[in-house]
Amino acid sequence: GPGEARMTLRLPKEYTARKPGLPFDPAAGQAELGAQGPVHRIELADGEPAWLITGHAEARAVLADPRMSSDRFRSERAMSKLPPKLRKMLTEQDVRAGNFLTMDPPEHTRYRKLLTGQFTVRRMRQLEPRIHEIVTDHLDRMIAAGTKADLVQAFALPVPSLVICELLGVEYDDRDEFQERSATLLRLDTPTDDLVRASEELRAFMLDLVRAKRAKPTDDLLSGLIEAAPDLTDAELVGISTLLLIAGHETTANMLALGTFALLEHPAELAKLQADPALIDSAVEELLRYLSIVHIGPVRTTLEEVEIAGVTIPFDSTVLVSVPMANRDPRNFDAPGVLDVARPRPSHLAFGHGVHQCLGQQLARVEMTVGFAELLRRLPGLRLDLPPSEVPLRSDMLVYGVHRLPVAWDA
Ligand code: HEM
Repeated sequence: GPGEARMTLRLPKEYTARKPGLPFDPAAGQAELGAQGPVHRIELADGEPAWLITGHAEARAVLADPRMSSDRFRSERAMSKLPPKLRKMLTEQDVRAGNFLTMDPPEHTRYRKLLTGQFTVRRMRQLEPRIHEIVTDHLDRMIAAGTKADLVQAFALPVPSLVICELLGVEYDDRDEFQERSATLLRLDTPTDDLVRASEELRAFMLDLVRAKRAKPTDDLLSGLIEAAPDLTDAELVGISTLLLIAGHETTANMLALGTFALLEHPAELAKLQADPALIDSAVEELLRYLSIVHIGPVRTTLEEVEIAGVTIPFDSTVLVSVPMANRDPRNFDAPGVLDVARPRPSHLAFGHGVHQCLGQQLARVEMTVGFAELLRRLPGLRLDLPPSEVPLRSDMLVYGVHRLPVAWDA
């Protein structure tokens, strides 16, 4: 999952760090290249060459191209760069099982079909009132506790984590443990040994969950998967569950927190949205485009030499799609640098494109529409509780956002 990519890729700061005072704009290095053309040869922090795709059409082409592999593990070159302990952990068969984000067709196709069969309209509808309750619950607690909070800890992180609990059918008594485990895995500067241990502990938790669902199925995605495909092994089900957690938790959490920060820093847009709550759907799409939190990927490896926009990318190269630049390509968007909550449905790439396009996007949309709408309705006077330049940014993380967002409101 994204966690693995974080461990396997390091970019020079110029491609990740934001310009002072411009936390929502693409990193300077990406922006400079994007102004020159759609495809660029860059160097990773370890000096290895890589290709950065900054054009919208070119990004779509890369993500739809079967010669672009999502399986970094098949590249000996990429794997040889890793610390041996990490390499061993990442390439163990049990760890790879079910993690279809890093598989190519036809292997990927089998899992994807099984999962699509579980992300049904019916299940998403059933989840909606639960998402509402989870959001309301956390806002109640924030409001009961005073007039200040760190929005990341009090709201943005726990809400999507509990939604995954609902999806997977984690029992109420186990949810604290579930949230603790996933928090460790998401933490920034975790040393390799601790990461390996945290990942093993999470897998042990998931294995217990899988066994419980086999013994006593309930009306959740995991039970549904077991019923639809009884031949899935425990390791595969653990891998699928872990992927859903990692792919769904950090992303949605950062959209909620960074999205709130962006709205607070664009008071005219915030006022528009508060005056007309029907704008929430377009506001969510625009925030997805404008913030592009997957800011140094998706990542692919070429299975053969590929030419994109006249640039030849050799066999076994690392290709990074710049979602932030693709989503601000002036060929595709009017005034791309402007946050416009009423922008008519932008065709952004925030959820990717092609066979790996985000499986959880409908769920993520519900979480964001309910999350933002309720937050603004319950706390109409919400404000930052520190100067905007002091908000700690997740520049060096694979998923961009904020580490903390201190906010305040009137009693
Ligand atoms: C894939 C973004 C929320 C599950 C992806 C990809 C992107 C993305 C860009 C494509 C990766 C690639 O091509 O390599 C986001 C964003 C989210 C979000 C921005 C929140 C705003 C979720 C949620 C879930 C989820 C809530 C599930 C509960 C997945 C899965 C994949 C995926 C399973 C892999 C699909 C595949 O390989 O076929 N996501 N995601 N995502 N996402 Fe999301």
